[in-house]
Amino acid sequence: MPKILFVASEAHPLIKTGGLGDVAGSLPAALQSRRADVRLLLPAYRDAVTRAGKLKTMATLTVPGLDSPVKIMEGRLPGTSVITWLADFPPAYDRPGHPYLDPRGQPWPDNAMRFALLAHVATALALGRTRIQWRPDVVHCHDWQTGLVPALLAREKSRPSTVFTIHNLSYQGLFPPQTFTALALAPELWSPEALEFHGRLSFIKGGLLFADQLTTVSPAYAREIQTPEFGDGLDGLLRRRAARLSGILNGIDDSEWDPARDRFIGKPYSARQPGNKAANKLALQREFGLPQETDTPLIGMVGRLVQQKGIDLILDTLPGLMHRPLQLVVLGSGETAYEVSLRKQVQRYPHRLAVRIGYDEGLAHRIEAGADMFLMPSRFEPCGLNQLYSLRYGTIPIVRRVGGLANTVVNATDENIKSGKATGIVFKDARAGALLAAVDRALALQKNTRCWKQMMHAGMRQDFSWRRSAAEYLRLYKQAARANGQRQDHEPGRKDAHVPGKSGKRTGPKP
Ligand code: ADP
Ligand code: GLC
Repeated sequence: MPKILFVASEAHPLIKTGGLGDVAGSLPAALQSRRADVRLLLPAYRDAVTRAGKLKTMATLTVPGLDSPVKIMEGRLPGTSVITWLADFPPAYDRPGHPYLDPRGQPWPDNAMRFALLAHVATALALGRTRIQWRPDVVHCHDWQTGLVPALLAREKSRPSTVFTIHNLSYQGLFPPQTFTALALAPELWSPEALEFHGRLSFIKGGLLFADQLTTVSPAYAREIQTPEFGDGLDGLLRRRAARLSGILNGIDDSEWDPARDRFIGKPYSARQPGNKAANKLALQREFGLPQETDTPLIGMVGRLVQQKGIDLILDTLPGLMHRPLQLVVLGSGETAYEVSLRKQVQRYPHRLAVRIGYDEGLAHRIEAGADMFLMPSRFEPCGLNQLYSLRYGTIPIVRRVGGLANTVVNATDENIKSGKATGIVFKDARAGALLAAVDRALALQKNTRCWKQMMHAGMRQDFSWRRSAAEYLRLYKQAARANGQRQDHEPGRKDAHVPGKSGKRTGPKP
C-alpha cells in the first residue's frame, strides 16, 4: 500500500478559493479507496481549524528561522476518513479571511514566509524528523505554495519521491531576492538552475526543477505550457523536463456534485428524470430577481473574476448578448475593476443580467442546476471543473478550445450531433465576435428540443469521477519511485534536474 503525503495550500471543505481546493479535497479520498494510505498537510488557517472540528496535537517541531515551535495538529478531512495534518503557527496562519490575500485583495506581505514554513513542515514529515511515526513513499505537492518542498527534499540522500502538480502556471510565487536571504535557504539554491528566476525568487521553480515527476491537470495544458504562448516564461524549462511531465485530467467529487442528491438545490433530478431541472431554473431566476420565464434561455457563469476566465471578453460581448433573448447570471469575485464593471452593467440591463459578487458555494450549485447553459470563455484553462459540473447537471457548456476545456467538451458539430457525442459548444478565438457566434449557435441548437436533450443526456451520462485519474496517479507514483531509486543508485550526475549542493557554484544573491 503506497504511502502518500499530499501537501496543499487549500482543500475543500476546510478552505477553498478555486479548483485546487476541490482537487485536494477529493483526490486523497479517491486514492484511499484504491488502497493508498494518503495523509494531507495544510496550513492551520483560522477557518480551516474552525471547520476541522476535533484536533489533536501530534508533534511540535522547530523550523529554521522561527523563534517558536510549529505544532502539527491531526484531524480528519470532514466527510472522509483522510488523516489531515494542520501546520499550526498562529503568527502565520491564524488570521481571518482569504488564505492568500489581505482584506484589500493584495497578497499577504508574509506569504513567502508562510509557505516556506509549510514546506519545512512537509520536509520534516517526509523525512521522519517529527514524533509522527509515518514516512511517505511519495510527497505529492500542488502549485507554487508547495514548490520549495521538492527543492528542500532534493538535497537529501535518502528521501521519498516527489510529484509536483501544476494547477496554474501563471501563479508562480515570485519574490524579491532579499526574500531568498530572509528565508535562509541554502545558498546553492540561488541559481538560474534552481530557484532564481530573472533575479527573483521563484517558488514554483522548486517544484518544476526538482520534483521526480511533474503533472498538470489536463493533457492539452501539458502540451500548451511547453509553448511560449502559455508557458509564462517557463516553457523552456518545461520542454527540458518534458519526459517527466504528463497531463492527468481532474476528476470531480461526484457525491458532492450530483443533481440527484445535491443538498443545495431545491429539486433533485437526474439523467433519467431531468424534468425537475425546469423548477430549479425558475428558482434561480427568482433568487437573482430576474423575470421567471421558462422559455428564456438562462446562461450561468461562476468563477474567479480574473483575466484567465475571459471576463473581459464577456464584458466586451455584453451589448451584443443583451440584444439576444436571454438572461445571464454571474457569481464571482476577483479583480475590483471587473467587479465594478459587472455591477455597472446590471443597471443597464436589470431584466437580463444579474450579478452576485462574492463567494457562495450553495449558489454555485444552484447556478449549475438552474442554468440552461454555462459560459467559460477562458483565455487559458489548466483543467476547469465548472464545465465538468455543468456536464453532470445537464447544463450545456459554452467553452473556448483551450486546456482542459478542449479535452472535456465535445463540440456540437453536425457530425458529433449525428453520432450522439456532442456535449457542448466549443469556439476557438479569444474574440468577442467568436464568443457571440458560439452563443448564437447554442441558442439555435436549443430550439431543436430533441437535439438539445440528446446533448444534455450525453453529458450527464459521462463519468467524470476520479476513478480513471486516481488510477493514473497511482501509476505515476510508481514511476516517481523508480526515478528516485535510479537517482539514489547513480548519484551524482542527474541529467534532467540540477541537484543543489552537488554542483552549485553561486552562493546566494548579491547583497
Ligand atoms: P479555478 O480553479 O481556476 O478557479 P475551476 O473551474 O477549476 O477554476 O474551479 C473553480 C471552483 O471554484 C469550482 O468549484 C467553482 O464552483 C468554485 N468557485 C469559483 N468562484 C466561486 C464563487 N464566487 N462562489 C462559489 N464557488 C466558486
Ligand atoms: C487551477 C486552474 C483550473 C483547474 C484547477 C484545479 O486553479 O485554473 O483550470 O481546474 O486549478 O486543478
